[in-house]
Amino acid sequence: MPTARSEGASTPCCLIFYVNGKKIVEKNPDPETTLLLFLRQRLRLTGTKLGCGEGGCGACTVMLSRFDRKQKKILHYSVNSCLYPLCNVHGLAVTTVEGIGSVAQGLHPVQERIAKSHGSQCGFCTPGIVMSMYTLLRNNPLPSTHEMEHAFDGNLCRCTGYRPILDGFRTFTKECAMGENCCKNLSKTRENGDQNGVKLSDVTVDHLDAKDFKPYNPSQEPIFPPELQMSDELDKASLKFEGERATWYRPVTLTQLLELKASHPDAVLVNGNSEIGVEIKFKSKVYPVIIATTHIPELRGVELTDSGVVFGGSVTLTEIEIYLRSVVELLPEHKSRTYVAMLEMLRWFAGHQIRKCCLKQKRQTEFRAVKKNQPSLKLKTTIFAIAGNIMTASPISDLNPILLSAKAVLRLASKDGGYRELKMDHNFFKGYRRTAVKPEEILISVHILFTSETEYFSAYKQSHRRDDDIAIVNAAVRVVFEEGCDRVRELTLSYGGMAPTTVMAHKAMKSAVGRCWDDELLSQVCRDLAEDMPLPPGVPGGMAEYRQTLTASFFFKFYLSVKLKIQNQLSVKSPVPASYHSATPTFHREPTRSLQLYEEVVEGQDIEDVVGRPLPHLSSIKQATGEATYVDDMPPYKEELFLALVLSTKAHANIVSMDVSAALEMPGVVNCVTCNDVPGSNLWGIINQDEQLFADQKVTCQGQVIAGILADTQLHAQRAARAVFIEYEELEPIITIKEAIKAKSFLLPTNSIQKGDLGEGFNLADHIHQGEMTLNGQEHFYLETQGCLVVPDKEDGQMLAFSSTQDVAECQTVIASALGVQDNRIVCKTKRLGGGFGGKETRAAALTGVCAVAANKCMRVVRCVLDRDEDMSCTGTRHPFLGRYKVGYTKTGRVTALNMELYCNAGHTMDLSLPVMERALYHCTNCYNVPNIHAVGYLCRTNLPSNTAFRGFGAPQAMMICENMMTEIANNLGVSQQQVRWVNMLKEGDSMYYNQPLLNFHLPTCWDECLTQSDFRKQQQLVTQFNRDNRWKKRGLSVIPTQFGVAFTSTHMNQGGALLHVYRDGSVLLTHGGVEMGQGLHTKMIQVASRALGIPASKIFIAETSTDKVPNTSPTAASMGSDINGMAVMDACQKIKDRLLPFKKLDPKGKWIDWVTAAYFDRVSLSATGFYKVPGLGYDEQNNKGNPFSYFTTGVACSLVEVDCLTGDHQVLRTDIVMDIGTSLNPAIDIGQIEGAFTQGYGLMLMEQQKVTPSGYLLTRGPGAYKIPSFGDVPVEFNVSLLKGVSNPRAVYSSKATGEPPLFLAASVFYAVKDAIMAARAESGLHGNFALSCPATPERIRMACEDQFTKMFPAAEPGTFKPWYVEL
Ligand SMILES: Cc1cc2nc3c(=O)[nH]c(=O)nc-3n(C[C@H](O)[C@H](O)[C@H](O)COP(=O)(O)OP(=O)(O)OC[C@H]3O[C@@H](n4cnc5c(N)ncnc54)[C@H](O)[C@@H]3O)c2cc1C
Ligand code: FES
Ligand code: FES
Repeated sequence: MPTARSEGASTPCCLIFYVNGKKIVEKNPDPETTLLLFLRQRLRLTGTKLGCGEGGCGACTVMLSRFDRKQKKILHYSVNSCLYPLCNVHGLAVTTVEGIGSVAQGLHPVQERIAKSHGSQCGFCTPGIVMSMYTLLRNNPLPSTHEMEHAFDGNLCRCTGYRPILDGFRTFTKECAMGENCCKNLSKTRENGDQNGVKLSDVTVDHLDAKDFKPYNPSQEPIFPPELQMSDELDKASLKFEGERATWYRPVTLTQLLELKASHPDAVLVNGNSEIGVEIKFKSKVYPVIIATTHIPELRGVELTDSGVVFGGSVTLTEIEIYLRSVVELLPEHKSRTYVAMLEMLRWFAGHQIRKCCLKQKRQTEFRAVKKNQPSLKLKTTIFAIAGNIMTASPISDLNPILLSAKAVLRLASKDGGYRELKMDHNFFKGYRRTAVKPEEILISVHILFTSETEYFSAYKQSHRRDDDIAIVNAAVRVVFEEGCDRVRELTLSYGGMAPTTVMAHKAMKSAVGRCWDDELLSQVCRDLAEDMPLPPGVPGGMAEYRQTLTASFFFKFYLSVKLKIQNQLSVKSPVPASYHSATPTFHREPTRSLQLYEEVVEGQDIEDVVGRPLPHLSSIKQATGEATYVDDMPPYKEELFLALVLSTKAHANIVSMDVSAALEMPGVVNCVTCNDVPGSNLWGIINQDEQLFADQKVTCQGQVIAGILADTQLHAQRAARAVFIEYEELEPIITIKEAIKAKSFLLPTNSIQKGDLGEGFNLADHIHQGEMTLNGQEHFYLETQGCLVVPDKEDGQMLAFSSTQDVAECQTVIASALGVQDNRIVCKTKRLGGGFGGKETRAAALTGVCAVAANKCMRVVRCVLDRDEDMSCTGTRHPFLGRYKVGYTKTGRVTALNMELYCNAGHTMDLSLPVMERALYHCTNCYNVPNIHAVGYLCRTNLPSNTAFRGFGAPQAMMICENMMTEIANNLGVSQQQVRWVNMLKEGDSMYYNQPLLNFHLPTCWDECLTQSDFRKQQQLVTQFNRDNRWKKRGLSVIPTQFGVAFTSTHMNQGGALLHVYRDGSVLLTHGGVEMGQGLHTKMIQVASRALGIPASKIFIAETSTDKVPNTSPTAASMGSDINGMAVMDACQKIKDRLLPFKKLDPKGKWIDWVTAAYFDRVSLSATGFYKVPGLGYDEQNNKGNPFSYFTTGVACSLVEVDCLTGDHQVLRTDIVMDIGTSLNPAIDIGQIEGAFTQGYGLMLMEQQKVTPSGYLLTRGPGAYKIPSFGDVPVEFNVSLLKGVSNPRAVYSSKATGEPPLFLAASVFYAVKDAIMAARAESGLHGNFALSCPATPERIRMACEDQFTKMFPAAEPGTFKPWYVEL
């Protein structure tokens, strides 16, 4: 049994803290438990979510507050509770989303504004975002827009595209409080007129204004617990808590700390716990002794000395940032150059919660303190600390290169050795994560010196994503000149990401000494850098040439920036050319601007008729207060067990043996489940029954489920699952498409489409061109990982499953088949999902099946919720694609013939790969009229987890390949890309190559409107001018159309169902076949039912999706949710209306409740089912005839980007979208879908890189390694218009589907980037086509911008080395 014990004077015997104003006294806190686990499991405060567990998504954000006795004020800071150790909260007040407002008690303005501004879709990220904003306001009730936008750099949202969140929260900012001069008001005035030729008088712009909401009054905030303010007893207490595997100490004096460290040299010291927390959770590390150093005064000091600044080891990075800002303001410019570099680096260090406590008011105090030269300004917060960064000794630490180049001096202490000083130089790092600090030593402080007048210092960092990402390469460069000239006295070059430790470039440093700061020195240093930091082609981390190129590019930037500074003071021979200045500015982003334009409902529409109105998502308020329930928020059942999966670690292997004996001995473990426990069929699959629930004898991908361990808690189950020993006999895996082609490893059938005569088409062509393009996969990264809760029933083999699934019917079928019972014994339900995007369509069924087998074996309730790394490694992704094409075209760019081969990486089983490829084949000409075509689609069978549905379902990949072809045609002809796109574009009345005619087809109008809205011609001129003036930054512009076929390509799935109950009080319970996953489906269905029944939306309620209410539902997918279920809802409503009609006739002046009451008393059924089958669908493959789609949703986007040619970094400066979505059922929800899909597409095309080793091991298993777009990636100007005056006779109330179609519009960014790269390549005399794979990561962009630096590091020949990861 764990025990809690206090040590030293006045120590409490328990962990004491406050949560939402309530005192918590915890007797036996487990040192390995996080605050999040405690909040969710012990206190049942489930509003705080677990999205990743590694500090990378912000879903778990809470606010910590404490009373600072020095400053006599309460300080607030947001933290990631998933990393924050529970034992660290002693004496603190914790505020969770439940503590600031609720539906019953009233909403906090932050909660109200995010909900009403449409900033919450699935809602899983919402509580975390609310808490980040709330903490900002508690510290600064009137922040600037800039401060507000930066408060979220540690939060991710996968649904919204971020714009509505920023818009909603902008109402809290200074700028919004400017009344008449508010930026929004200014733009409103402009929009009321004629904007860029678009008449806007009949459209509306959804502007938000602070006065539309409940005012924010900081004095109304909950009070800080008086006990914590009055007494310092809890702060002074030294603590000891003993848990199952670890003991936690919190000493409060240096002597205590040194003694503890002397007795436990292997103990880890903890400040922010970001390293240690991640190691415990994901690397299964056990640290028997953990010592918190947060309360040691000597480690908390900050001092300004005569020679520099001294930071105590436990000073947090935020405190450093705040302090340095004051110091920089105070000191002469030349003295603070190192600090300026540190500040630039800290700007990009991790996320807000990790880095910041953001205490705006503190700045003033600190500034005064610095001015007075107050020796030890003590700030105490417990986030990431400087000592943790140094001592982790990570090769990609952001601070270590700076400290090395700045020759920082560390003060160390140990019990027996006393104090000593250690300079951070080339001897400091001894190897991977090892330093010259002795195990028994504590890092007390870090001394960072001033710079001199002739000394210059800069730091650089390049990562996959700017916000909250670790470096690919970082650098700190320092030069000292001889007095009065540009002769180098000393050059210091430190790099991270180039070796197992931070390294110095000794040769380059040496050879620069004595040289003048000129181009010769530049060339010499770059040559030396290549020798100083050679990287073999298969180096861990990959990207060898890019990383090497960055070392030279960074130095080039430094060289130019120093030259610019000194050329005015000294007579430098060749000054920096004006166009080269573009290499030097640091990244800058303007505040986000946006417009959303849509048609208002017709004049005279009944106020209660909500169809066409921008109703907020009906769950958004509950989502903002944390009251919305997801599967893992459901309270535990009695004797519930947790299932942890034992997953294959090999891609292809025979299972020789499995030993679970050690696991079964572990605490809390109850049982183990394998294929032998499946009473029914172990096989499942949508198309082919080719996938096993539990692997039997052989594994065919890593991440495959082999077994499951059942235990009393998740921790116990997971620990035991890791103790299962499996002996494998490895077999040769096939991982990539190219390997599969070589081995002829295909799943059958191979599909094709043919129209016209290819030979004739090529004869008509003036030119023939061949090309290819590859696209990576994409992880769904729904914020809620997959999970389920299965409740067995001993009677009749019944079972109830709650699953985070997009397809309740498939879960039901898989469970029934696994248990060998009929479907009628199984009920599957889902209330809402924290995002799905296709990833929870089939893959959720497998997990639910596995859980059902476990529950059946033990006859106990079983819960299984995947951790992020498990989810990413076993649930499959979007299909990687390879497209090869041979195209014939005329002098004007008109395509006459196309022969296309598409290959997708299906993974180890069929899953949905066949329909994914079918859709790809239907979309492989995007919206272009290709008269003669032959397209074939191959499904490559590989040893990867089965790839699956993902928003767009193969279409974006195929369209991307087609647009690459269009770009190359334009480039070959030397004409503009828009010209080629326009001459090929389909028009009303044309037919697709599968012979479906295009009716109601408004794509050309969208194209024209987009060009007008974006002011395309003017932008084009500006881009040309910009590119002429700037050598090292280039801009690109691109307009891309999209056309998306709406329907399931499997005809039978185009059916919807609904069930409608009207109760005696007139209220309506509606159930339909669709799942709410954030897309606003339930909101739209209520709007539909409200109009159909003629009653207010408030009378209608949707509780869940359930197989016992609506049977045989189709998955909520293919953008068909509203179309099929909406019509079914209307059908059910019509039945009820027909039944009520006689009563309405009898009482024409009566109300709804009167007719319902009368019908009830007349014994009329007030319950009706609804059904809908989409008419006129069906494609005849043999004759290439029929309609695979119900209709098409179309749109156009224009994007403007700026690329940093030296690093590969880019920024989207502007995006304009015009879409035809018919008559929108709910324009706010539809615009939300457009922006969210665009942002997800942006991730696919520009950012999200799945990395898999040649042996099939997934390297990117969490937000740390896999980057999805963040707040900082929203286009700086983001305008979305819905085409007005259009309708659609083929869907509910003339609407059109919006879920998937807009995703592809992000291709406009990809091709704008390609355009910018072309401009950069032209500077090097390169004008032809070049390959750019998807995603266009910084690495790919940089290496495509070929120049003198890239030439220094040529790529090794493929096949001559083993790459770190492979192109799938
Ligand atoms: C989401 C996320 C994002 C990140 N982003 C970045 C980033 O952008 N840039 C970057 O450089 N790093 C980043 N990191 C890495 C990590 O956050 C840093 O290394 C951080 O500074 C560690 O500080 P900490 O206080 O959390 O360390 P802890 O986890 O508390 O401790 C880390 C190590 O330091 C030792 N230690 C701590 N204090 C002392 C002391 N006084 N004396 C001796 N040893 C001591 C501990 O024993 C332990 O081994 C990130 C980590 C996460 C989880
Ligand atoms: S769950 Fe804590 S940051 Fe993701
Ligand atoms: S609403 Fe943000 S993740 Fe779904």
